Amino acid sequence: MIRINENYLKLEASYLFSEIARRVSAFQEENPDREIIKLGIGDVTRPLPPACVSAFHRAVDEMADEALFRGYGPEQGYPFLREKIAAHDFMARGADIQPDEIFVSDGAKCDSANIQEIFSDDISVAIPDPVYPVYLDTNVMAGRTGRATDGRYAGITYLDGTSGNGFIPALPDQPVDLIYLCFPNNPTGATIGREALGGWVDYARQAKALILFDAAYEAFIRDDSLPHSIYEIPGAREVAIELRSFSKTAGFTGTRCAYTVVPRACRAWSADGTGHLLHTLWHRRHTTKFNGVSYPVQRAAEAVYSDAGQMQTRELTDSYLQNAALILKEMTALGFECIGGENAPYIWVKSKNNSWEFFDMLLEKAGVVCTPGAGFGRCGEGYVRFSAFNSFENVQTAMNRVREAVA
Ligand code: MLT
Repeated sequence: MIRINENYLKLEASYLFSEIARRVSAFQEENPDREIIKLGIGDVTRPLPPACVSAFHRAVDEMADEALFRGYGPEQGYPFLREKIAAHDFMARGADIQPDEIFVSDGAKCDSANIQEIFSDDISVAIPDPVYPVYLDTNVMAGRTGRATDGRYAGITYLDGTSGNGFIPALPDQPVDLIYLCFPNNPTGATIGREALGGWVDYARQAKALILFDAAYEAFIRDDSLPHSIYEIPGAREVAIELRSFSKTAGFTGTRCAYTVVPRACRAWSADGTGHLLHTLWHRRHTTKFNGVSYPVQRAAEAVYSDAGQMQTRELTDSYLQNAALILKEMTALGFECIGGENAPYIWVKSKNNSWEFFDMLLEKAGVVCTPGAGFGRCGEGYVRFSAFNSFENVQTAMNRVREAVA
């Protein structure tokens, strides 16, 4: 008798964004004439930057030419892309990251889900609340938790984000091995300064813990005092893995390209106390389970680092930040307590009532989709998240409709 992985039975609800999509399509079916504006899932709406499109086209033409055609590429990514990433995203910011420490992949979601398999089943895991659900669900699937009660899984150390701490959780008050951090934060849009991030690095060094730092939204940082990478913090090379993505930076949500940085200095231990390089383990995992991102996609991603690509991606992220500023301004003017929306494409809004009720009210009265904060964890109850990924016109219309709906 084939048996299932029963850890899947512990998973609480359906994946947050699937549940939202289900409610939206049910509403759309009942109200076919209503035009819905989606400020829910953080999915980009503007096309790929022209520099990326040209590089993509050129690479497809190469694939059509027998002399230039390429089959399997290196599992970790082509050197042309890894070198650009290391130079532009890290070395240019004083962070010592080498090209061979970069693993190109088809998404930060997959990487953040897959990375935990290189750690022991019995490590203790610290996860912020509210949080991007993938970190939590994948640890549940792997069997690192007990069952959930009142929306919290036994065995997880939750790091509460509240308006009191500005949604930057305090260090854990019990020993933990693996810590998930995301800044600029999804879902709250909160950012972390060097000193506070330094506190986490010091903690991890002293506790022999590891930080999984999700920097998928770093391209939205405009405040020069904020770190873009955890490797800008001294000592982080030994205790942090960083996740990055071209999805939000360059509109690659449908194109798929991201990367994970595993410095050669990062170690974890086997039961006999021997230290092992995580780079070796992740390399092994990549070569066994992954055949690399397609060549044209990697060429398109490389073009992000050209002069034109840098200008165009800046313009792209600026446009979403303009939307974020508008949402922040309008929701604040309507009397809602907000955070985020500056240096981040998400605005976290105190909803004054239950977050799913607020979601349903906005959908029904305004035809606007947001994301209920409760879907990101217990501390998200009473909040909703607005995403800035849409056109300026749609965001303006959405805000007009929200104003009428809450009047
Ligand atoms: C979100 O809306 O939180 C993100 O789009 C989800 C993702 O990047 O997978």
